[in-house]
Amino acid sequence: MDPASAAMNPSSAAMITSTLLVMLSLIFCFFLFLYLLCSLLPRAFAAGRAAPRKLSLPPGSMGWPYVGETFQLYSNNPDTFFALKQKRYGPIFKTHILGCPCVMVSSPEAARFVLVTRAHLFKPTFPASKERMLGRQAVFFQQGDYHARLRRLILRAFLPEAIRRSVARIEAVALRTLQSWDGRLVNTFQEMKTYAFNVAIVSIFGKDELSYLEELKQCYYTLEKGYNSMPINLPGTLFFSAMKARKQLAHIVAKIVSSRRKQRTNEANNDLLGSFMEAQEALSDDQIADNMIGVIFAARDTTASVLTWIVKYLGDNPSILQAVTEEQEEVMKKKEAGNEEKSLTWADTKRMPLTLRVIQETMRVASILSFTFREAVEDVEYEGYLIPKGWKVLPLFRNIHHSPENFSDPEKFDPSRFEASPKPNTFLPFGNGTHACPGNELAKLEMLVLLHHLTTKYRWSMSGYESGIQFGPFALPLNGLPLRFSLKSPVEDRAA
Ligand code: HEM
Repeated sequence: MDPASAAMNPSSAAMITSTLLVMLSLIFCFFLFLYLLCSLLPRAFAAGRAAPRKLSLPPGSMGWPYVGETFQLYSNNPDTFFALKQKRYGPIFKTHILGCPCVMVSSPEAARFVLVTRAHLFKPTFPASKERMLGRQAVFFQQGDYHARLRRLILRAFLPEAIRRSVARIEAVALRTLQSWDGRLVNTFQEMKTYAFNVAIVSIFGKDELSYLEELKQCYYTLEKGYNSMPINLPGTLFFSAMKARKQLAHIVAKIVSSRRKQRTNEANNDLLGSFMEAQEALSDDQIADNMIGVIFAARDTTASVLTWIVKYLGDNPSILQAVTEEQEEVMKKKEAGNEEKSLTWADTKRMPLTLRVIQETMRVASILSFTFREAVEDVEYEGYLIPKGWKVLPLFRNIHHSPENFSDPEKFDPSRFEASPKPNTFLPFGNGTHACPGNELAKLEMLVLLHHLTTKYRWSMSGYESGIQFGPFALPLNGLPLRFSLKSPVEDRAA
């Protein structure tokens, strides 16, 4: 090669340098673009999932090794624990209870994130012993297609179109329940449990299966006694008896299913059993039994606790009790004047707006389910914090219902606040999202029907009532609210 031609003149050197610079900038831009693509795109498509950068856990304390903060939670009123934590750490904090690391969330937005918008990242979770007792195929423990199918079948039996035909049957149960209260000191919660159980049976099995009622009741009560016991399956323990009762319950349900099959009636059954047995949807006997037992479990203590609190709040607030009584007497008078059907109808229950607001306000103040449980199925990012895979996540309903940001003067019992709709995601007595309560319409209906007869026929006084709350596991007035009820005299009736 000619050395002269190899030597560069200054202008060609400058050209090469600038070409190199352009190329280097292009390469740099290309890699920068790749980096941004890799780091931002997944975030854009998977908002809510763990980001690759290092995230910190929410603030909070994990307490002692293994026991964590379980004693702090249960040695006191659990609500005090949640309120103190929220005050110290804000609306998302970590803790460790019952052997599990947990993240608790107490803002409406965070509850929506866990229960609705990112529900697929959080699965329902229960202790294994509870799953065994209620039945592994019950709706609460499921996700995905089987869950969606069960929900459709359950909702079909409990939507307004289905339950509007049950009003007279529910009323008969309410009248039977109230009949024996006159002059007696009753444990309000126990009586309400009997009522809610009987309504559940009627709604699940229809009227045909009442012959099995006593047998079902005995087995269910034994099951219930063992529900919160130590899961030791040895003869003599409550758990053992509960598991035995559970087998018997499944056996009774199988007998009912088989007799319904033999009836071969063309008439559609609007009850839950009819929905479960419908030809195209048919579930196996085990699936039916698990879900029947599950629905009774979900329907009974919840409704009974709310009814007990309503009696308490009405007793504490005579002017509200008076207004509810007047509303219910108006319903009665309208029926008499219009020569309408004697028993209550669906339309009658729509003429009770104040009573409905009392139910709503009771569910807010009492918040019988202080929280629910989920488990993160993968690492999840929320508001810059990491919720690690496998950790329990607890949306705190009670904190949301008692926050002054969501409800002014939150400790006051004031049904009139429900004249306006609450802000979105601030009122969650029936949960929210994929696992929200499918029985909420039935619950409201049975409460309205009972309150109609209770307020128009009975009076009760709160004197001598020992104030306080017990948790078992639902929040309840102390000792189940023992009260003496008496029938109103005909003179009082006439005065009204
Ligand atoms: C006032 C009474 C009631 C209250 C306060 C209540 C509350 C709730 C709440 C908060 C949930 C959601 C739990 C979660 O997300 O983890 C739920 C679920 C459920 N409730 Fe209710 N409930 C009541 C009455 C009823 C009744 C009467 C029935 C049946 C007819 C019922 C059946 C169910 C079922 C089957 C589920 C599970 C749904 C699923 O996992 O998809 N509940 N309830």
